[in-house]
Amino acid sequence: MENSTLRQNQWQLIAWMAVWLAGAPPLAGQTTLRAAAAARAIPIGAAASADEYGPPDLLKVTAYANLLSGEYSMLEPGNAMKWDVTEPSIGAFNFQPGDELVAFAQANGMRVRGHNLCWHTQLPAWLQPYANTATPAQMAALLQTHINTVVTHFQGQVFAWDVVNEAFADPSGEAAPGLRDSIWYDQPGIGQTGTGYIEQAFRWAHAADPAALLFYNDYGIEGPGPKFDAVLGMVQDFVSRGVPINGVGFEMHIMTNGYPSAAGLAQNMQQLAALGIQAHITEMDVRLPVDSSGDASAADLQTQAQVYQTIMTVCLQQPNCTAFQVWGVSYNDSWIPSFFPGYGAALPFDWNYQPTPAFGGLMSALQTTAPTLNANNVVSAASYQGGTVAPGEIVTIFGANYGPASLVTYQLDASGRFATSLAGVEVLFDGAPAPLVYALAGQVSAIVPFEVAGKQQTVIEYQYNPGNGAVVSNTAAVAVAGAVPAIFSLNQSGSGPGAILNSDNTVNSASNPVAAGGVIQIFGTGGGTLAGGATDGAVAPAAALLTTAPTATIGGVPAVVDYAGAAPDLVNGAIQVNLTIPQGLAPGPQPVVITIGSASSQKGITVAVK
Ligand code: G3I
Repeated sequence: MENSTLRQNQWQLIAWMAVWLAGAPPLAGQTTLRAAAAARAIPIGAAASADEYGPPDLLKVTAYANLLSGEYSMLEPGNAMKWDVTEPSIGAFNFQPGDELVAFAQANGMRVRGHNLCWHTQLPAWLQPYANTATPAQMAALLQTHINTVVTHFQGQVFAWDVVNEAFADPSGEAAPGLRDSIWYDQPGIGQTGTGYIEQAFRWAHAADPAALLFYNDYGIEGPGPKFDAVLGMVQDFVSRGVPINGVGFEMHIMTNGYPSAAGLAQNMQQLAALGIQAHITEMDVRLPVDSSGDASAADLQTQAQVYQTIMTVCLQQPNCTAFQVWGVSYNDSWIPSFFPGYGAALPFDWNYQPTPAFGGLMSALQTTAPTLNANNVVSAASYQGGTVAPGEIVTIFGANYGPASLVTYQLDASGRFATSLAGVEVLFDGAPAPLVYALAGQVSAIVPFEVAGKQQTVIEYQYNPGNGAVVSNTAAVAVAGAVPAIFSLNQSGSGPGAILNSDNTVNSASNPVAAGGVIQIFGTGGGTLAGGATDGAVAPAAALLTTAPTATIGGVPAVVDYAGAAPDLVNGAIQVNLTIPQGLAPGPQPVVITIGSASSQKGITVAVK
């Protein structure tokens, strides 16, 4: 079979596997924060400004614009999406600066993080007087209108919002801090008690853009302590009652005084991860004492570099830390000097838009932090269910966050087998590299070596060599089973219409169903060993039976298994099971289940019956 058809068959296989592309365009060499972060599948951003407060429009400053788009894959309006800019007078909205930042981001393949919809400060001059006489109901209507209008305007352009910002008071001593007094909480508030106004803001934001990730953002919560506990308590309550919250933003406006500790930050992130909540580093800067020209000492800059390296390392090690952002593009637009006289030099780029040691600290973390391998993230490429693997099973490994910034699909080695190294990525099972189907930062698909057959477990390790030496993950042990059958789905969701061909090799579907007595070809993986053995990574030359014959049902009715084994022209590990459609089934989608030994394929896969 000449290569093109071979590639086409293997493409069909990959098309059945969901590849959630990080969408990172290939970037030459890891010389920029953007390229290095793309290889970690993490967006890296900076607070940015247009002309929200009048000239100069920083986006029109070439050095500023080039650095922002060259070094960062995400931006967040430092002020342009705040109330004082977006609703300068009641009911009158100004989206020009925000739109300009969004347009800039889109033109440069960057994401936009929105900031913020509800805060106690930086409010337009008309709002406080209004609040002085308004009823809670009027304040509620005002807040709802603002959130709905702003979120709707930027719908599909802003991937995540800081919905509520800095609502908890600063703790005095160990006592759990209460909520900060504000026009939204109690002066006069919007008629809700406790965190009710925050909950309401999240519900309104979600209603306006159900796809946007919604964050609570604050400072002083980066390390363990009463303020973080107060935020965690609110998040726990919200999650338990289904309030639409997706994450917590850690502002990270810090110094070089050891706060937060790496362990403390990691602990806070893990407590959020346990609730299924993401963490973003949203506004990092590390202020240093500066001289009259605003420059810090070389020694302080080195200490600062270590702080940036430490925080980025923790973020890369915590799977729920899904974005990293600094609060400003360079020393020129940093808020620190005007808010902390005598301090500054807080960012990875200086007055001349040149990298500082902090840049080196971030790059070092991005290029050396070991990728994290979690056994729970080793799942069937067909069903996305994990827990065990089978010999020859095609698996997807999520979260190994170091790899090629854009998708690289299988390559055949000299002996025509799927190569075990792809763009610097290797996945080892008990020390032996496995054939790879594709590789991407944060997501790789490998074929479990048949040699694991008969073992209780296999120890997996992930390696990535960006060119200057391999960076090796932790190891993860996964149980081995004889077979874990799973069927590919046409929509890559792991359920719904299966990857099934009718006997005339056309794709089975609602508009192309199969009649009773017809024979279908089902494609899946996890069938276990083949009678007569199989070579890892080889393309199946012909039919070869599974060692353990499966049984199958369609619509709950036993179906005759005409063939179960290798899928000719597909890589060993992909399986084909041919079934005869039983008589008497109702027309429409019928569930199909394949069972091998004590393991059955995932529920929810259907075949369209006439
Ligand atoms: O540019 C105008 C100038 O034209 C005008 O003359 C001057 C006098 O009012 O104001 C200038 O605008 C200032 C603006 O920064 C631009 O520099 C505003 O006064 C000043 O309030 C604004 O400060 C912003 C600050 O939030 C307000 O609290 C900072 O830029 C912004 O970086 C900062 O960001 C906050 C986050 O939103 C939340 N977390 C903390 C972070 C730092 O405070």
